[in-house]
Amino acid sequence: MKGDKLAPSTFLSKRNIEGESMVSKVKVGLIGCGAIGTVLAEAIERKLVVCDELVVYDFESWKAQKLKSTIKFPVTIADGIEDLIAVKPKVIVEAASQQAAKEYVPKIVLAGIELIVMSTGALLDLDVDLSKVHVPSGAIGGLDALSSAALAGIDEVVLTSRKNPKAFGVDNREEKVMYEGVAEEAARKFPREMNVAATLALTVKPTKVKVKVIADPKVQRNTHEIAVKWQFGEMSLRFANDSHPDNPHTSALAAWAAIKLLQTLLKT
Ligand SMILES: NC(=O)c1ccc[n+]([C@@H]2O[C@H](COP(=O)([O-])OP(=O)(O)OC[C@H]3O[C@@H](n4cnc5c(N)ncnc54)[C@H](O)[C@@H]3O)[C@@H](O)[C@H]2O)c1
Repeated sequence: MKGDKLAPSTFLSKRNIEGESMVSKVKVGLIGCGAIGTVLAEAIERKLVVCDELVVYDFESWKAQKLKSTIKFPVTIADGIEDLIAVKPKVIVEAASQQAAKEYVPKIVLAGIELIVMSTGALLDLDVDLSKVHVPSGAIGGLDALSSAALAGIDEVVLTSRKNPKAFGVDNREEKVMYEGVAEEAARKFPREMNVAATLALTVKPTKVKVKVIADPKVQRNTHEIAVKWQFGEMSLRFANDSHPDNPHTSALAAWAAIKLLQTLLKT
């Protein structure tokens, strides 16, 4: 009906009578202001990820303060997880720890907020609706090929991870096998170093992923080799990642994987 048409100015201004913008701000939530969180915040500052506001929570509040003071972008510090959920971010990125993810993921899922989980090992122990929970490729890649092959049937997946001994807090001079077994146990035994094992396990489930973790003084980079035998072929993938300068446990690629996934989710 003609008379029902809104005046053009109403379309253009999108402001209410008090002059406040009615277009809601796109907020990104971040749990953990450490190595990954800081790279992500810098990517937001550089507009690689487009949003209006970053809302951060870190249980060490000085880390949240430090992040806020180092970037020129609107950052709000939340006092706790409930505070963060209450501002309704479009997406929350967990970049804290497996312990944090175990505690917070169920609350965020209940609030119906899209969530990127870096501490993927935590997901192995959680019984929650994972429809809004996104697992980034993290320090590895090729998950598209692996999940495709998993549909047809995978016979074997072997992950061999080598890191410099300092990433494990040891100082062996010769190569030392730190662990040999299955992915679930590797991710629990090395919650800071082996989330990649959990990521693989979640991708090829129910196939069991065999894992070997090696402290190797000859490697400077975090190296992950994945060998797959599946119904119609074989795959070999190898990643040699520089570690984050502030955190030898973490591969720089992991932060970039979170940034890429966040970019994609914000566009949907
Ligand atoms: N998926 C992958 O491939 C992959 C790769 C690298 C790292 N990770 C994981 O991502 C997570 C973040 O890595 P990082 O290198 O940034 O770690 P980091 O230690 O540099 O930073 C973690 C930050 O989270 C905060 N934090 C820890 N527990 C918290 C809690 N319960 N509540 C609020 N804040 C908390 C810490 O104070 C710290 O500032 C780790 O669990 C790490 O193992 C995953």
